[in-house]
Amino acid sequence: MKNIIAFAGSNSKNSINKQLATYAANLVSNVEVIVLDLNDFELPLYGIDYEVEHGIPDNAHKFLDLIKSTDGIVLSLAEHNGAYATVFKNIFDWMSRIDGKLWSGKPMLLMATSPGGRGGATVLEIAKGRFSYMGGNIVADFSLPFFMDNFSDDKIVNQDLNEELIGKTTLLSKAL
Ligand SMILES: Cc1cc2nc3c(=O)[nH]c(=O)nc-3n(C[C@H](O)[C@H](O)[C@H](O)COP(=O)(O)O)c2cc1C
Repeated sequence: MKNIIAFAGSNSKNSINKQLATYAANLVSNVEVIVLDLNDFELPLYGIDYEVEHGIPDNAHKFLDLIKSTDGIVLSLAEHNGAYATVFKNIFDWMSRIDGKLWSGKPMLLMATSPGGRGGATVLEIAKGRFSYMGGNIVADFSLPFFMDNFSDDKIVNQDLNEELIGKTTLLSKAL
């Protein structure tokens, strides 16, 4: 059976993006879903001086190995001040020091959500623009606005948005 990893670009214990990523990944049929949490891959803040002195930390290698050994990726990015949350940018930077094409061509459903009406659209656009230079293979993207209104009891409660997401997970499923 194929497997996919699902994770959020967030280190919040109650991450709304982790909730969305988990929900979306479980909509993909006939795959084993492995939900990852960036809190389990703590890393020092990236800096060239640290890297020269200590090398690249094991957790960056471990996370990259998980990407390389999966069949597909469901990632939902938190938006902080119109950009990646620090914890995501940090692991992204560390992994890019090992392999500039870190996403390794793995089919990806890329998402973002936020409590606001833009649903993390700004960070989603940044990632869509950047990942393609870094081995990214984004087969579908999805933004969920007004998370608190549209997501409840571990699922999307707005029918139109739910159907849109189901369509996107089908695209991922076909690409695996
Ligand atoms: C420092 C900071 C900056 C934020 N900036 C944005 C923003 O630019 N756009 C947005 O939609 N939400 C913003 N938010 C709200 C986040 O979308 C919200 O905290 C959300 O829960 C983050 O996702 P997470 O729960 O998966 O960590 C910000 C939150 C913080 C703490």
